[in-house]
Amino acid sequence: MSADTQKQAAGLAAIDHIESGMKVGLGTGSTAAWFVKAVADAVRDGLKLTLVSTSNQTTHLAQSLGLEIKDINDVGKLDVCVDGADEIGSGLALIKGGGGALLREKLIWEMADRCIVIADAAKHVATLGAFALPIEVEPFAYKGTINRICDVLSEFDIAKLPVLRKKGGESFVTDGGNLIFDVPCGAILDPSGLASALKATTGVVDHGLFLDLADVALIGTDSGVDILH
Ligand code: 5RP
Repeated sequence: MSADTQKQAAGLAAIDHIESGMKVGLGTGSTAAWFVKAVADAVRDGLKLTLVSTSNQTTHLAQSLGLEIKDINDVGKLDVCVDGADEIGSGLALIKGGGGALLREKLIWEMADRCIVIADAAKHVATLGAFALPIEVEPFAYKGTINRICDVLSEFDIAKLPVLRKKGGESFVTDGGNLIFDVPCGAILDPSGLASALKATTGVVDHGLFLDLADVALIGTDSGVDILH
């Protein structure tokens, strides 16, 4: 079974966790897109939901399917957020941000009572870090920020340089106007320590480590959908 079929299975399975009347955060990426499509079908069939989005990309997709996206500031607390991930490690520690939406994703996740992560089987890993860790950086004086990030990485025995993310030959710019640097860590042995140290680094807006946020993972496999807690 292809990764996309597994993503589809996970994305569609998440609709079983949604009830009429809920306030729902819509994630970003190809797996989350399957969930958005399932939401559009369910709303067409009569489910009443209040929806907010984690990115312009998801907002455009949702609107193209006839869904109304509310401003998060008008909605407040959410019942649930459903989103993809780049890696899912032990304790449902995650790397996110492959699609560049990590800041808005984290803002929405932190406003949700329950966070459901949906992914294909390859995303489930023993140790985080094979997927390069995205770090969102304020563009002003970014070279100084990168030096500080390198100092932090060396404290965690990660001797890798952050790589400026590009799109179409230009620097990738997030929905919030920031840059992304990807760090090919290899293995992140102390996710919690690294997350705190990066968060405390001036110029770092946020990073792709999502720790203690996911409540459940729905993993599409060749034989169905596995549920991890
Ligand atoms: C976007 C993300 C995505 O959820 C993550 O990159 C997974 O994407 P996909 O479902 O396309 O594999 O974090 O910022």
